[in-house]
Amino acid sequence: MEPGAAIAKSLRHPAAVLAAAAVLLLAALALAAGRTPAQALSNGLALTPPMGWNDWNAYGCNVSESVVEQTAQYMASSGMKAAGYDYVNIDDCWLKPQRDASGNLVADPTKFPDGIAAVAAYVHALGLKLGIYEDDGTATCAGFPGSLGHEQQDANTFAAWGIDYLKYDNCNNNGNIEQSDQAMRDALAATGRPILFSLSEWGQNNVWTWGAQTANMWRTTGDISASFSSMLANFHANVQLAQYAGPGAWNDPDMLEIGNGMTTTQDESEFSLWAEMAAPLIAGTNLRTASATTMSTLLNQNVIAVDQDPLGKQGTEVSSSGGLDVLAKPLQGGAVAVVLFNENNSAATISTTAAAVGLPAAASYTLSDLWANTTTSTAGPISANVPANAVVMYRVTPAGVASTPTPTPSPTPTATPTRTPSPTPTPSPSPTSSTGGAALACTVTYSTQSQWAGGFVANVIVANAGTAGVNGWTLGFTFPGDQKVTTAWNATVAQSGASVTVASLGYDSVISPGASISFGFQGTWNASDVAPTSFRLNGTACT
Ligand code: GLA
Repeated sequence: MEPGAAIAKSLRHPAAVLAAAAVLLLAALALAAGRTPAQALSNGLALTPPMGWNDWNAYGCNVSESVVEQTAQYMASSGMKAAGYDYVNIDDCWLKPQRDASGNLVADPTKFPDGIAAVAAYVHALGLKLGIYEDDGTATCAGFPGSLGHEQQDANTFAAWGIDYLKYDNCNNNGNIEQSDQAMRDALAATGRPILFSLSEWGQNNVWTWGAQTANMWRTTGDISASFSSMLANFHANVQLAQYAGPGAWNDPDMLEIGNGMTTTQDESEFSLWAEMAAPLIAGTNLRTASATTMSTLLNQNVIAVDQDPLGKQGTEVSSSGGLDVLAKPLQGGAVAVVLFNENNSAATISTTAAAVGLPAAASYTLSDLWANTTTSTAGPISANVPANAVVMYRVTPAGVASTPTPTPSPTPTATPTRTPSPTPTPSPSPTSSTGGAALACTVTYSTQSQWAGGFVANVIVANAGTAGVNGWTLGFTFPGDQKVTTAWNATVAQSGASVTVASLGYDSVISPGASISFGFQGTWNASDVAPTSFRLNGTACT
């Protein structure tokens, strides 16, 4: 037995299988998200672009239990989890070449000696979620058993193991791709477990036109590689498709290649462009050996906040000519994220204006440089000398708009990951609170989305009903029953007895007047599952 196997075993628990179908209130979710694209898949997941890690770009077929668990451990200890990276995703090559006698998928026992349910338990104990890979054909791209014709059986297996995310690939299928993918969508829904559905359609079959009804994200391009030209090709294809993306449904220009061979400048450009396009941020490097520079790129909270902006708008091209691009992404609260991108191999000045990026007339605009962490002011012109292959990325806020997120310093990465998981996720420190002196007013909507004997999934929407922005928030409440939170998403949840404290993960720490944030959690109960009613936002009672 390898060194980590005993630890993994000790954490194993029966995977949670939801016994009741999830009842997801689309209207409430649309309220939380600002908007939802027409006919979006109503599984309530990925209201902001998914964030996480996947082994494929760094390891290819050499995935294993130890790689996945060590990476999960590092994500929890390095600041990645706190920054919002919560999915740990296994790609192709995890399977045995044959199904078992009952037709069930079986993990390769050499690579995953404790099985996938044990890995899921390990990852969940760290407060993270586990993703897995399958294919809509007879075999995966690497030749392992595919899910075609086994959709419900495989979805049931994934739910029983505690899987939270499925990447569904496009090899060896019979051409009826849309129907096959929808069969898996329906099979996942029938399990009752919230499982994010990610299509790997490589931009074929105009997947963006039917992606939102089928999945939470869909690949718009072929496979990325760790080169500037590959990254550029995927950017150019994906940036045209903004109209199809929104909360719950995202264009996916493929996983990040940051740390895999491009220059630091090119890595920063990829991160900025992906965030500007509201793309999933799935790190694809060997995190266990990643440099401090790679980690600080992946942990730029200013840029992550643009990606995770709750309005969920994909940025669009304002201009693109001669390798010089201007992109604009409207943000919740009235600011716009602007990227000035120089594709060329020599420095160039790139210019636009506040009006051209869609901002209303104002006496002045604040330009927050999201990489340099500096702030300047302009009457309208937005211009910078941009080095070769680089971006300059600004959050542009018109005078009169209440708040901009405070840049959060990147956490220092931990140099040496260990295999010992922390069974109790450590809550992030509470952000400081400010409403600029105005009275705080808030409303909270708590909805139980799914409930079964002994367990439940809840969604919470916190709206700022006051006149000033809430800059940093914690929400307190008390369970009237004996509920215990086991997993949370989009926030950090700490529980002591019946008393619960929820804190922002950082990317949504500012709640503008009239705006709302949402988070959710899964938990257990024994005698009583009564919804809490008394909520306190930064100590003030909400209605
Ligand atoms: C396809 C996908 C990749 C990866 C491999 C695995 O090429 O597009 O992202 O999943 O299959 O075989």
